[in-house]
Amino acid sequence: MVGNADYTVIIGLCTHLGCIPSWAPSTMQFKCACHGGEFDASGVNTFGPPPRPMDIPPFKIEGTKLVLGEEGPEYKKLVAKA
Ligand code: FES
Repeated sequence: MVGNADYTVIIGLCTHLGCIPSWAPSTMQFKCACHGGEFDASGVNTFGPPPRPMDIPPFKIEGTKLVLGEEGPEYKKLVAKA
């Protein structure tokens, strides 16, 4: 959460064979058209052949700004849980 907004920071590639899943707002899921894989809004695999969640790129939060490519405490906390 940055300010009052929620964000999902993920590399949007399917962890099965690398297709690009589409966001389906009606079901709040990422759906992969290649082999039917599904991910929740956090990029966690929930159905089909994807073997693991989508990858999280390094990021940090500076006030209301999201900075990609640098490891902040929020990123380190997420990576430590995985
Ligand atoms: S590449 Fe996404 S389910 Fe196979």
